Amino acid sequence: MWSMLGARPVDVFHWESFGSGWLTDITKQLKLDDVNSYLADYGELPDLSLANPSHDAVFTWNGTTSGVKVPNGDWISEEREGLTICDATSAVFAMPMPWEKLDVVTYSWQKVLGGEGGHGVIVLSPKAVERLESYTPSWPLPKIFRMTKGGKLIEGIFKGATINTPSMLCVVDYIDALDWVDGIGGVDAAIEKSQANLAVLTNFVESRDWIQFLAKNPDQRSNTSVCLTLDATEEQVKALIKLLDEEQVAYDIGAYRDAPAGLRIWAGATVEAADIEALLPWLDWAYAEVTK
Ligand SMILES: Cc1ncc(COP(=O)(O)O)c(C=O)c1O
Repeated sequence: MWSMLGARPVDVFHWESFGSGWLTDITKQLKLDDVNSYLADYGELPDLSLANPSHDAVFTWNGTTSGVKVPNGDWISEEREGLTICDATSAVFAMPMPWEKLDVVTYSWQKVLGGEGGHGVIVLSPKAVERLESYTPSWPLPKIFRMTKGGKLIEGIFKGATINTPSMLCVVDYIDALDWVDGIGGVDAAIEKSQANLAVLTNFVESRDWIQFLAKNPDQRSNTSVCLTLDATEEQVKALIKLLDEEQVAYDIGAYRDAPAGLRIWAGATVEAADIEALLPWLDWAYAEVTK
């Protein structure tokens, strides 16, 4: 965003905390004026069809704190002139990505791959490179953000050359995570594993009348960050989370601090369906305990 925005008006689609954070960067830090904010409440998606193909578009693929994901890339124009800039931190390796429609994609190793924190990947389309080579923002850019030199892409940084000194232990851990994905059958197998985890939770939710998905539309339900609401007061939800923690059944299972009270269960491919199944009777028990 810091390297490329400002050349065109920007459409920002956001529906939870991380996406709203990007809007803050765009309006309060970069101070861009020509910005359209499309906001939906927790549990819903804004109307993505409002994306103007001549504008840049910024959005998360998976809203990690609301458990609402973009279901597909059908709304993104093949003929767009603007760039699509997508924070796909909790989506890449867990959801099919329409790569040909995404100009800038970022994801971090710590999320879906369960790798080390503090590092991530940026994937650029030829159109994004063209923007980098033809546009210089009016604001200063720290060295770590600079991807061009003399108006040309610094290709080395996409071929293993480093800017400053990232942790090579983390790099090796990332390679190990990629080998693991290969070993289970590749990205399609990782996606299927995560979807199977979601299916276990869906069966549970559908057979209980006291628990619901925060995501209203089944097509938009995240298969990585599964967010659930309960027929319970905020205090009861807190008590349930504490019980599960004390019983050493689940840690950090509560909703993200900015999201409505509820549960958030990681269901990416690093999690086994059997472990999610093992959790479910504890949810029944803890809910009964806090509502009796
Ligand atoms: C959508 C989204 N964006 C950004 C981040 C930040 O990721 P990191 O802490 O790996 O930089 C997260 C982390 O949960 C996220 O879910």
